[in-house]
Amino acid sequence: MTSPTDPSHVKFVATAPSNIAFVKYWGKRDAKQQWPANDSISMTLSASTTETMACRSSELFDSFTFGGQTITSATTPNHKVFSQIERIRQTLNIQGHLSIASKNSFPTGCGIASSASGFAALTIASAAALTGCATWEELELFGVSRERIASLARQGSGSAGRSLYGGYVRWSRGSSAEEQSIRPIFAPGQWALADVIVIFSDHEKHVSSTEAHKAAWGSPLFEPRLAGLSERLHLVSEAIESRHLSNLGAAIEADALEMHAVAMTGAPAVNYFTPETTQFISWVRSERTSGRLPAWFTIDAGPNVHLICDPKQLQTVTNRIKKEWPQAKLIVDQTGTGPTLHKVTKSSGAHHD
Ligand code: PMV
Repeated sequence: MTSPTDPSHVKFVATAPSNIAFVKYWGKRDAKQQWPANDSISMTLSASTTETMACRSSELFDSFTFGGQTITSATTPNHKVFSQIERIRQTLNIQGHLSIASKNSFPTGCGIASSASGFAALTIASAAALTGCATWEELELFGVSRERIASLARQGSGSAGRSLYGGYVRWSRGSSAEEQSIRPIFAPGQWALADVIVIFSDHEKHVSSTEAHKAAWGSPLFEPRLAGLSERLHLVSEAIESRHLSNLGAAIEADALEMHAVAMTGAPAVNYFTPETTQFISWVRSERTSGRLPAWFTIDAGPNVHLICDPKQLQTVTNRIKKEWPQAKLIVDQTGTGPTLHKVTKSSGAHHD
């Protein structure tokens, strides 16, 4: 029998949101150190989250349960989840194995990239379980700042680092890999925006973002993109600061199309669009011009489209899409406040941060 003080009796639960990039991270200057080619700015989401529970294990391996299936580091040691746990152990210099269980708030395989929320939640929960710290304050006192967790999370998946903060977040590349930083630039209360995620395909993407980040360097459009980004980053920051939706919208559409143009002209070329993606974005633009759809699109490494709009216009936007695109699945999300952490003990119940 285990006692309530047995470490395996305490579960550390992290809930981390996904985020949508307004200026995309695309291409790495140094893959080993996960140093991005450019700065990116994202909005943290609220409803699309991963909840990950971690506890100390008495086994000699790590285990990970997701979607009713359990894998272990004994049988699949190279799985990216186990590499991430090992990275956290080494960075914090704390030994011990973990038992992890994770679930997404959104249906899996629905076409929403879950790596941002997934790696953020995994990193927070693992750091908490290894240190025994159940709040951000305790982690900070232990020497594990949120900044340090963000840096660990981005090494698992670049975009995950931005999910450590609420509101609007900038990942700056700095002048060396060591100098890169991830910081919130505007609090969630600065501007509440809605994100209608329009899902056409729930297939796994055929080329991983890891492969596509490499292929970007082969595109003749990549260097010109990088050269023009400081102006776009400025435009996006200013639009958020002044809550200017059409300026923000124009910049995010240009950025998404530019990122996909780089992908489509990369070596090898990667096309994430399906015919529906192309038809849909043309439709969005013509509807907007005729005043029927006050929304602007952005698209990550997949065929599905995020439509950013004023929450007051949400009903108009979703009704219009449901009418014209009945085959699409919709997920409605909005600006979020960032991840949470708490612990659960069998005897005492939940302790919230
Ligand atoms: O975090 P990764 O390596 O899966 O790259 C994500 C890249 C985009 O989602 C397309 C853009 C971004 O900045 O989130």
